[in-house]
Amino acid sequence: MTLEKDFVIRTMGRDDLELAVDWAADEGWNPGIKDADCFYNSDPQGFFIGELAGQPVGCISAVTYGEAFGFLGFYIVKPEYRRQGYGIRLWKKAMSHMGDRVVGLDGVPAQQNNYIKSGFHTAYRNLRFEGVGNGCGRKSKELVDLAALPLTGLLSYDKPLFPAARRAFLEKWIKPGGGAALGYVGNARLEGYGVIRACRYGYKIGPLFADTEPIAGTLLEGLMGNIEAGAPVFLDVPHINAPAINLAESLAMRAVSETVRMYCGGPPSVDLERIYGVTSLELG
Ligand SMILES: CC(C)(COP(=O)(O)OP(=O)(O)OC[C@H]1O[C@@H](n2cnc3c(N)ncnc32)[C@H](O)[C@@H]1OP(=O)(O)O)[C@@H](O)C(=O)NCCC(=O)NCCS
Repeated sequence: MTLEKDFVIRTMGRDDLELAVDWAADEGWNPGIKDADCFYNSDPQGFFIGELAGQPVGCISAVTYGEAFGFLGFYIVKPEYRRQGYGIRLWKKAMSHMGDRVVGLDGVPAQQNNYIKSGFHTAYRNLRFEGVGNGCGRKSKELVDLAALPLTGLLSYDKPLFPAARRAFLEKWIKPGGGAALGYVGNARLEGYGVIRACRYGYKIGPLFADTEPIAGTLLEGLMGNIEAGAPVFLDVPHINAPAINLAESLAMRAVSETVRMYCGGPPSVDLERIYGVTSLELG
């Protein structure tokens, strides 16, 4: 018989995170090929694995961004170990790591009521859209490789669009393997940016941030032009940003699933009108 005390939660090492990414893939979440690298770099103390008699059975991430904000992800218990109390113990460990920060998550609708019981409230829905790459390259002269621009400009642009500074994350994220990171430079300054990365199945775009819908459209087409024609592409769009939904639909993308953005603590102030695509469902 396995004893309750045999369940131990420890901080993940870098290699453990590959296992968590595999479990995320098993859940159909289609992680990016290089996600583990970028994610781990953001907060090496923020990933937890639960082991039963030495065998990994569950995980959760609680990535902190400075002292005021954190984001939960990778809340998974292996199917054969569910409903035995391991998940809630992982959850409590993650929340205690967050301290008194405002905490965000993008949850599956099936878990929404549990998160409400745990003090979270719903902010909005994200719709996942699926489209296809067009392989046409980038046609607009305003589109430039983000990695070639000064990082300080990118960090300033990102600031009102994410609840906290995220330099360590962005430094890696804008160099995706098998994808592209593009900035839109108009009027001699950054007016939007987007990243497309290779995933287990096709590609995901995120973030897609832009000052206006036409700029977001140019970025989106440029990103989809950067990958092979016909390859599946996914984009998670905040439902409350109507122009963003219109844009995805105007490019013949179709909604395939949804998640719920929730917060514990006052919702952070971000400029949602400029958010055309969420960075990632695991790290916010
Ligand atoms: C969600 C998941 C991790 C829960 O793990 P689990 O080990 O099955 O959960 P537990 O056995 O610890 O749950 C014990 C109880 O706490 C509840 N609970 C679990 N997590 C909770 C949370 N975060 N807040 C409040 N209650 C929670 C459960 O509903 C259950 O309640 P019940 O006894 O009234 O039925 C697991 O079902 C899973 O891996 N699901 C697939 C992946 C997924 O969808 N993850 C969530 C992504 S947002």
